[in-house]
Amino acid sequence: MRAHPAGPLHADVVSDHAAVARPTSAEELNRLSPAVWPSSARRNSEGAIEIGGVDVRDAAAEFGTPLFVFDEDDLRARARNYREAYVGVGARLVYYAAKAFLTTAVARIVTDEGLGVDVASGGELAVALRAGVPGERILMHGNNKSMAEIEAAVEAGVGRIVVDSFDDVVRIADAAARAGVVQSVLVRVTVGVEAHTHEFIATAHEDQKFGLSVSSGAAEEAVRRIAKLPSLDLRGLHSHIGSQIFDAAGFEVAAARVVSVAQRIWDEQGIEVEELNLGGGMGIAYLESDDPLDVVDMAAQIGDIVGKQCAAEGIPMPALAFEPGRAIVGPAAVTVYEVGTVKPVELDRGLVRTYVSVDGGMSDNIRTALYDAEYSVVLASRESSADPTLCRVVGKHCESGDIVVRDAWLPGDLAAGDLLAVAATGAYCRSMASNYNYLPRPAVVAARDGQTTVFLRRETLDDLLRLDPGA
Ligand code: LLP
Repeated sequence: MRAHPAGPLHADVVSDHAAVARPTSAEELNRLSPAVWPSSARRNSEGAIEIGGVDVRDAAAEFGTPLFVFDEDDLRARARNYREAYVGVGARLVYYAAKAFLTTAVARIVTDEGLGVDVASGGELAVALRAGVPGERILMHGNNKSMAEIEAAVEAGVGRIVVDSFDDVVRIADAAARAGVVQSVLVRVTVGVEAHTHEFIATAHEDQKFGLSVSSGAAEEAVRRIAKLPSLDLRGLHSHIGSQIFDAAGFEVAAARVVSVAQRIWDEQGIEVEELNLGGGMGIAYLESDDPLDVVDMAAQIGDIVGKQCAAEGIPMPALAFEPGRAIVGPAAVTVYEVGTVKPVELDRGLVRTYVSVDGGMSDNIRTALYDAEYSVVLASRESSADPTLCRVVGKHCESGDIVVRDAWLPGDLAAGDLLAVAATGAYCRSMASNYNYLPRPAVVAARDGQTTVFLRRETLDDLLRLDPGA
């Protein structure tokens, strides 16, 4: 990644001037590719985008911009499809990874659709419990769970706590013993596989903060210690190899390693690994050219891989579990921004890049600045037949790295007051939002059958000032 302390470099403009292909027609420029946009997204007779039958202009007027708009039916369908696909290949439970985006309504929707909830902090646990998610359908993660978080999880009767360290073994056992319960746990195993999109790296060792490594024997040692503690019940192993993964290759190497650990645990300790949780990481399309494996194919391939590995090792196939986050919420929402300043900037050789400033930025979507993420963006409040112009959609923060979409072709007549929509922003955008420059964080609404429901209201300046005791 090209980065300097104030964000990605911004001086190498000519070399990446046309990093994305120029649309060949106005129709292409206005088109909403079903690969990227929520399933109900369409342009109405006035050319404005509707999500769940709600015109984004009306939603923007009512809730302000920036605004996250979820297609509720799309969100539900994704949750349902993941449950069906993975239960179909032997999953006991599919947990929604709440870190991607969580509100009480989201927790209710995913549990309605038959998912559990994976929480990674006491805060996420509190939201899931407030939503009424039954304790046994919650799984808790964390490489540094506080004693208070562990106690809250034990008290809520969470179905699984994932042991991430030897400290966790002692702390969870103590909390359960004090509460007079037996807590079910998984051991998070790090297998030396890191996967992103089509690439994965497999190493012999692990150098990271999560989990207990296979190569050092730490994972098996944790199992040994857990087996001696009457307040803990070891249910199985956990492995998570990365995020935004497009194919099953990385899962294949990880499954081979984790199944061989399960075989050794059986052989040497006589303990059967009943459950194998293979984490999340299933990728989504941010651009039309992205080609993640379809949910059913990915599930089938992973199920097949684990089945073959177990047969090869001569152990019974464990029940499976998964934790998709991005793939459930990511594609189901868009961000609506209002255009403010439009500034053509002359580059070398007569090239022009138009900087389109919107009323949010890195405070509602840090992913472009942080990961060089790419997004699809269109003019949302109308259609236009103006020539495509190469634009950079930027925010309103005091940093040159405050970029929402690095390279985007937008109509040449774009002007202040137009609305833009950025696709696939349901995951890791609002959940990673900040108040940088004291911007209030945006509202999140869900649209369905022409009606909106508020998932989160927009912050006000009073909300921000409330934390300041001098105010
Ligand atoms: N399970 C575990 C143990 C995880 O650490 C994660 C994500 C998931 C499940 C869900 O992964 P997903 O299906 O959403 O890929 N902020 C980054 C992503 C960080 C993912 C962290 N762990 C981003 O915006 O791309």
